[in-house]
Parts: sequence; C-alpha cells; structure tokens
Amino acid sequence: MRLDIVAAALCAGVVCADAASASPSPVELTVEAGRSVAEVQPTMYGLFFEDINFAADGGLYAEKVKNRSFEFPDALAGWHTVGNVEVRTDGAPFDRCPHYVRLSPERHREKLTAIENEGFFGVSVSRGEVYRFSVWARGAEGDDAVRLRVAVADPGADGDTQEVAAAVIAVDTPQWTKYTAELKPSATVRRGVLRLMPEKGCRGTVDVEHVSLMPVDTWHGHENGLRRDIAEKLAAVRPGVFRFPGGCIVEGTELGDRYQWKNTVGPVENRPLNLNRWQYTFADRMYPDYFQSGGLGFYEYFLLAEEIGAEPLPVINAGLVCQYQNRHAEAHADVDSLECYIQDAIDLIEFANGDTCSTWGALRRDMGHAEPFGLKMIAIGNEQWGEEYVERLEQFVKALREVHPEIRIVGSAGPHPDGDKFDYLWPEMKRMGVDLVDEHFYRPAEWFLESGARYDSYDRTGPKVFAGEYACHIAGKKRNHFYPALLEAAFMTGLERNADVVEMATYAPLLAHVEGWQWRPDMIWFDNLESVATASYYVQKLYGENRGTDVVRMYDGAGRAVAGTEGQHGLFASAVADRGAGTIVVKIVNTSAEPADVALNIKGIKRGVRIGEMEVTTLSAPTGAGGEPDLDAENTLENQWCIVPEVSVVALDTPVTSGNGIVEYQMAPYSFAVLKFKNN
Ligand code: AHR
Repeated sequence: MRLDIVAAALCAGVVCADAASASPSPVELTVEAGRSVAEVQPTMYGLFFEDINFAADGGLYAEKVKNRSFEFPDALAGWHTVGNVEVRTDGAPFDRCPHYVRLSPERHREKLTAIENEGFFGVSVSRGEVYRFSVWARGAEGDDAVRLRVAVADPGADGDTQEVAAAVIAVDTPQWTKYTAELKPSATVRRGVLRLMPEKGCRGTVDVEHVSLMPVDTWHGHENGLRRDIAEKLAAVRPGVFRFPGGCIVEGTELGDRYQWKNTVGPVENRPLNLNRWQYTFADRMYPDYFQSGGLGFYEYFLLAEEIGAEPLPVINAGLVCQYQNRHAEAHADVDSLECYIQDAIDLIEFANGDTCSTWGALRRDMGHAEPFGLKMIAIGNEQWGEEYVERLEQFVKALREVHPEIRIVGSAGPHPDGDKFDYLWPEMKRMGVDLVDEHFYRPAEWFLESGARYDSYDRTGPKVFAGEYACHIAGKKRNHFYPALLEAAFMTGLERNADVVEMATYAPLLAHVEGWQWRPDMIWFDNLESVATASYYVQKLYGENRGTDVVRMYDGAGRAVAGTEGQHGLFASAVADRGAGTIVVKIVNTSAEPADVALNIKGIKRGVRIGEMEVTTLSAPTGAGGEPDLDAENTLENQWCIVPEVSVVALDTPVTSGNGIVEYQMAPYSFAVLKFKNN
C-alpha cells in the first residue's frame, strides 16, 4: 500500500516510499490496537518547575522590579539612588518584610531625590501593553501631599534617555496605603529602568515599600500574575502533573535557606525573602542578585496547576539539606525532632484541600480559592539519599498514612538512575510502601539510546515510577539542539510502553532566562519580552497531546518491543489507543542516519471501520549546508521556528479495515513521527 500526501507538502518527516532508498526490506511492526496492555495515567506527561535560571522572579512571575521590598541583604541592591534616600525599618507595614525607603527632599529645591530600579536584566516593557504600577507609601504627619512621579525610561545605548511611560500619584496620608497607576509605554524598551521620585518642588517626605510593576495582561488576568507567553506554552503541553518548587531549592545548603511554603502564602507584600541556592552554585555562572521573593508561591503554583489542567505535586523538605553541597551530618534536622517538618507536610495538605473552617483552608479561601485544590500526592525530599533520608522519610510516611491515607507519597531514588544510592533506595522505598519513586537522569546520548527497554523488566508489584527529572545531555554541548530532543523522544517510547509502572514523567529543567541561566539544556528559553520553545519542548508537547488512554501492544517481526534493539535499525516505537477519541496513535522515532521503511500491521480495527487516511505529525531536523539533517540545529529567540512539528493528512492507497491493516510508511533519518488513525 503506498501513501499519497493529500495535505500540502509541508511534512518534513514524511518521505514518499520512492523518495529515498531505505532499509532493504520494510521493518515489520505490529500494533494490536484492540488489546490494552496498560492504562496510561492522565498524569503521564507533565512539567517540573524549579526556580533555577531565573525561572520565577525575572521569569514566569511577571514582576518587573527586582528587590521590590528592599529585603535583599544589601537593601538597595538593584536600585540606584539620587539625593536624600534612606533605608528604614521603623513603623514598617509588613513585619516579615521590614525594610522600606524614605525619600526626603534635598535642601536645595532644584535637587532631585529619586530611586531607580534596574529590573531583572533591565525593566522591559512593550508598546501596546498596559502595566500596573503599585507602591505602598505614606507621607509624613503634617506634610502636604507628595506628588510621586513614576516613569519607565530607556537609558538608550547612546545615553540619550527617553521616558516611555509616566504617571503621578498623590501620596496624601501618613497611613501606609497602596497606590496604583497604569502605565502605557509609547515604545518597546528591552533594557529600561523604573524611576520613582517626588516631583520637583515637593517639600514633603514620602516612605515607599513594595514597589511593583506588572503587565495587566497576565496569564488568566491575575493581579499577582504570571507571564502570559510562558504560561501559555506550559498549558499547551497539556501537562498531566505539575511538580514544584524544586529541585535543589527545596533543600537549601543550610536548613535556614530551605524552601518553606508557609513563607510563600498570604499577602504578597509580607512574604519573606529567601536565598536562591542557584545564586552561587557554579562559579562561572554566579548571580549575586538571585533571591526568591516568594511572589510566585504555593498558592500561585496550585492555581497554575489547576489552570493548566495538571495534578499538583508539591515537594516538601525532608529535614535534610542538599547532600551535594553540605556534607556535614549535623547540618540536617535532628532525626528525632522532625515534628515541624512533618507538620509542614500535614498543614500543606490542609492548605490545599482543607475545609475553609480550618486554619490553612481559611487562608486558601482568603487568598481567593474557597474550593479545595484537590491535592492527591506529595513528594518528600528531592534528590536525597542514604540512611539519613530513609530514617526521616519513614517518619513522614508513618505520620501521613495516619492522618492522610488518601494522599499518595512520592519518595526519591536519589540523584542517579543507577549505582549505589539508587540500589540502596529502591528496596527501601518498597519496604516503606511509598506510592511512587522519583528517578532522575541527566544522561548522555548513549544512555538514552541504550535505555529504551529500561522499564520493561521493572517489578510490577512495587511502587510506581515517576521519572521526575530527565534530559539528554550531550557531552561538550549541553544545548537545546535537535539530536538530544530526538533521543528523549526515543526514550519516551519506553516510558509509554511501560505505563503500567511509569505513571508520570517530567523533563527538567523547564525554564531559562537567556541572560541568567545556570543549567542547560532547558525546555523553554526566554528573555524579558519573548520566549521560545525548544525541540525538547515539542517532544514533550507531542507526547502530552497524544497521551492516549491505553497502551496497546506493539512488536517487531521477531515479537520484540521496538526499543532500538539490535536489528531494529535504530527505531523506537510505542502505540496507544484513546478510548474517548476513538483513535490509535503510533509513535515512531528513527535515531539512525538512514531512512527506514516501516510496514505497520494494524490489528484490532473495529468491525465496520474503514481507515482511509492518517494524520502524520513529524519532528525532524532542518537540512544543513551539506544536505544532511542538521542535528545541531536549535530554536533560539532569534530563530524560533527552526524545528517545529509539521502536520499533514495522508491518504492510504488501500484503506485499513478489520480484515486488512498494513500501512507502509517511510521514516526519514533522524525523525520522530506520530501517526494517528481514527478507529471509529
Ligand atoms: O534540574 C536541575 C537540578 O537537577 C535540580 O534542582 C536537582 O533536583 C537536580 O540535581
């Protein structure tokens, strides 16, 4: 049976059977479409968010002002001052963010007093957008109202400063009050500044605190909002699970720096600052101004998970500091004094699910969400290992099982997908009866090529697997080029085929600012104005969109799973059925330099159904200068559409019916194809 391309010849991955010489005889692949071998959990493909690479402040969190509450160790970090500016704490409006700034007039009327914020790699604004400026301010008793001017200015490369938006606020009371103004920039500015100054001639003193500038048009319009462009990309993956807030930031190098969710809820003005351990992790990528404002906190994470349709998976500190960074046993919480850590976990469940009469449920309601968030699982610890982890986790498990038997517990298999730590932890996880074990693998190409069958032999009776952090890291490159993404796609066929044991998988890390990254590759890159999806992102998206409901059996001519095994021409494949949509979806990845003819024998077509076409979505590398696929190609902010999925509808010469089901398809070299058939 030959294929005809009926849609426009857009599809880079579809090669007509005579367009290139492929494997001598077609590779026979059989799909038993009517035979479900496992259910695919709705959580199967998801997202893992960590505040690394300026993913939160300066990234997804739409705040443009750095150190908006003057809480950095250097209270004026990120700010430049002119004239009479003083940092104070007396009579502060927010007890957990006690610093504010007093702007007093200079003795000479012609002299200005002002503060100017440099933002995160600049204060960027776009023409056509509206921005909400807000500040908490108070005047001095007995003074006239102070006219406070706020402006976004573009210092310009040649020193020719241009103001692109401005407003004036009259601070007319000695009580702390929130003032707001809308700014509508007349031009787009990439590396601007935000200025705040009493207008010339104002003789009063004004105190300012929590200076904020956010776009009005945030994701879902939330005032304490998220960048719409980035959040939309997250939603488009159709994630089933959303893990947060880390990663290593859960742990802290010292316990005082660990992520404490209770500090990230309640009024945004009163969330205490925390260090971000990615500030200093790599000497060559040190960012002294990298802190966590908590503005994107646990309420916002739960809300985002809900809005993108994903199950929330919060990670809680296990009473351990980062075991990589701090080797001192005494740095961990005393194993006999874990009450407050365990209580944090219990209270978190109350915050997410509790009745609005409960303490934490009431806070959730006060923040705007009376309905429970429907939390179903919680992870204890990130990449922990050793006895010190097990003896702590055991206490969490015991306590949580007693109080919240309905909540599934995720334990960790340590930082690596094999080795001593891994081998020690898995049996312990089984012994303790955790529900899922979080495995991490940042591994080279060879590992991904060899691991297609990793889960085929996993124990089906123990905890399920959560592949919580993974990415293919190519030695010497570590960029988001096409080839590692292709290998991720190949490896994921093995996750899918084993959906009875692998219930969730999330690529990592998720986000990176082009000017502030510490770790790469990453799924989405951004600057202050734009974001770009990588090839790895599209792999995740294709899986997320084509998750299906049931894994169906698929095998080669020798009855083997298609996992890049010898004699399989570098092919990896899996197949699912979507019972609701009535479709069969076959994913095939060709990791070899040769095209591969595939003869797809689809069995189990419903009686009376006649499949006359298939939808083909391919992800492939663009052609390089030498006419070969350019495996090093990548999407960048400057060239965003270099690697994108191409969709076409292909007519089948001979329709597939319950009696006859061979579809011939030629896989282009180095390509990922998703073939979708309507089986109803
Ligand atoms: O994803 C980056 C880091 O990798 C995570 O913080 C950590 O869990 C892992 O080591």
